[in-house]
Amino acid sequence: MVNKGIGFAVRFMEQLQNKRILVTGGAGFVGYHLCKKLLDFTPNLTIYDDLSGGKPENIKDLPRNVNFVKGDIRDSKRLDGLEKQDFIFHLAAQVIVPYSMEHPKEDFEINALGTLNALEKARKDKAKLVYTSSAAVYGNTEKVPTPENQELAPASFYGLSKLVGEQYCNKYHAEYGQDLTIVRFANVYGARCHGVIDDFLDKLSKKSKELEIIGTGQQARDFVHISDIVDALLLSATKSNAVGKTYNLSYGKAMKIIDLAKTILRILELNNTKIVTTNVPWKGDIRTILLDSNKAKRELHWNPKIRIEDHLRKLIIERRIRIGQTSN
Ligand SMILES: NC(=O)c1ccc[n+]([C@@H]2O[C@H](COP(=O)([O-])OP(=O)(O)OC[C@H]3O[C@@H](n4cnc5c(N)ncnc54)[C@H](O)[C@@H]3O)[C@@H](O)[C@H]2O)c1
Repeated sequence: MVNKGIGFAVRFMEQLQNKRILVTGGAGFVGYHLCKKLLDFTPNLTIYDDLSGGKPENIKDLPRNVNFVKGDIRDSKRLDGLEKQDFIFHLAAQVIVPYSMEHPKEDFEINALGTLNALEKARKDKAKLVYTSSAAVYGNTEKVPTPENQELAPASFYGLSKLVGEQYCNKYHAEYGQDLTIVRFANVYGARCHGVIDDFLDKLSKKSKELEIIGTGQQARDFVHISDIVDALLLSATKSNAVGKTYNLSYGKAMKIIDLAKTILRILELNNTKIVTTNVPWKGDIRTILLDSNKAKRELHWNPKIRIEDHLRKLIIERRIRIGQTSN
């Protein structure tokens, strides 16, 4: 239990206390939870987000003293015009894999050029930068669990643009001694998440007799809870041994999508719902995401605690309350 409790809180409070912190993409799923936590340490929080994927309610539900700037990560002038920062968490991204396959240029400009813009801001401000990358950089690797030093062969333009962002980070560290850390998430879930869990619940709220899985259902994902990810982001920002490093962040157990669907139906007591599969994966999809996070556990003393099987029920209840549903 190294990353919890009073010792954990005090260590971070010292380094983040009253610091000026910028979260790009702070109106999104991960950004919302990260910002909520950062407010325990500092009132000087700025969110920079164009709201293209993030939700205005995520901003509304944060305290009023958060400085929200609506802006595009591709707009370097506007980004540079923000006040000087001590820490930058760079989360802003185009995150939809199929969209990247249809719009590779836009995906590149937001994810790769956007990361370069965030790096320039960090360099100018002498701020520590944490870059949120993705398991998508590995592509369809045969080696699972996948360690950080595995070959990087993205299957999608999204994975490629996130990888280019990583490479710019590494170059900035090598050339300018830029203080930064790269983290590669597996599938993050929790309240307000998007992605497959949200997609299933959404489909079921519209039509509970049938649940369609895109693909075969045999694709597997390593689900990691948002509170564990927020812990890891704070550790990455503040641990001196994380500088210039790249870390996988995952729970370390893969769940097939068909089993996820069955678990959700069981929790909702939808015993007669038929599961159907399209059998055609979307372009750029990956068969199995299962990361080896031992490096983060060893070096950051990160300890992911929440298993998806134990948390799904709570997540479903929370979501139903949030969208005002009581039954399907
Ligand atoms: N959620 C996951 O499972 C997961 C997995 C791997 C990596 N990641 C990475 O974590 C980060 C956060 O992801 P998330 O799940 O919170 O996604 P999200 O879509 O909820 O948040 C991304 C935010 O970026 C903003 N954004 C998009 N384009 C922008 C632009 N041009 N200018 C400014 N803001 C822009 C969106 O409005 C949104 O608020 C991303 O960088 C993503 O690549 C997430």
